[in-house]
Amino acid sequence: MSRIEQALAKAAKERRSLHPNQPQRQQQQTQSPATVLTSDYLRGLDPRLIALFSSNTLAAEEYRQLRTKVMRTKKLYSHNIFLVTSALPNEGKTVTALSLAITIAQGLHDTVLVVDCDLRKPAVHRMLGIKREMGLSDFLMGEVKLEDVLVKTKIEKLRVIPSGTIPPNPSELISSEDMLKLITELKARYQNRVIIVDSPPVISLTDSVILSQKVDEVILVVRANNTPKEAVSDAISNLGEANIMGIVLNRFDSVSHYSRRYKYKYTDKYGYNYGYGQKYGYKYAYKYGNKSPYGRKRDDNNPKKLS
Ligand SMILES: Nc1ncnc2c1ncn2[C@@H]1O[C@H](COP(=O)(O)OP(=O)(O)OP(=O)(O)O)[C@@H](O)[C@H]1O
Ligand SMILES: [Mg+2]
Repeated sequence: MSRIEQALAKAAKERRSLHPNQPQRQQQQTQSPATVLTSDYLRGLDPRLIALFSSNTLAAEEYRQLRTKVMRTKKLYSHNIFLVTSALPNEGKTVTALSLAITIAQGLHDTVLVVDCDLRKPAVHRMLGIKREMGLSDFLMGEVKLEDVLVKTKIEKLRVIPSGTIPPNPSELISSEDMLKLITELKARYQNRVIIVDSPPVISLTDSVILSQKVDEVILVVRANNTPKEAVSDAISNLGEANIMGIVLNRFDSVSHYSRRYKYKYTDKYGYNYGYGQKYGYKYAYKYGNKSPYGRKRDDNNPKKLS
């Protein structure tokens, strides 16, 4: 129970002792927003996000700590646009962006806007159970106004700009003058709002690198026991001048980590095995295009072979 909830419960108890005949207030009034959500309210949300609404899970606590860091950065530097990216595909960027957004929206005052800038493999709308009819790409192509692409979600205080129609030229749209104007406008218009930008991976695509120079802060997601160290350091060097606020270690199994740690406590064997049999770029880059991260052409018939 949070300190605010404890204080509210204490005040209610004192009120009851002063006025024993007065009917008790509805229990709901002292519950956190997370606990009053009905199953209907959560219908359509990705199961991994639903887990966050049970506020006592370990994951929920980790995201609250991340929220604290984000809110501190916002307060200290007036930075309110955060890009979530990772070195490679499938590391958990979208899950992290949305989990962080929901955790912030669950706070007392803060409102959040999530912008899906992954114009190639958008997933924000799917995880939130909303339609992707119009979105960022349509706005950037000049077909609709900003108001038309701001979508309310089932989660109070959480708005979304979905990716929209998948365009033929995502990189051109992301690097366009209009995208820069949009970020500047969102920052000015929603000074009190946290804006979280979901994006594609850094290696083999330029979109996130371009975005990283326009936003205030970058959060780099790393998939535990999966992302090679070289991929993380390549991503950091690609991000260059961007402000990397921190790294989120996603899918980290703390239970087995600590049991392993204690098991080897006296033998001095902290076996972190990074045994990846395959060079990471070859394995992943073809999913996003036919170029390896080192710019060599890929053989379409055999994506692992470089010509
Ligand atoms: N912490 C987690 N625990 C369990 N599963 C997870 C976790 N984070 C992500 N996943 C799962 O891993 C898959 C990839 O997650 P997600 O879509 O967030 O990755 P991504 O980095 O955004 O991928 P892409 O590069 O395709 O945009 C999804 O099926 C998601 O449900
Ligand atoms: Mg994604």
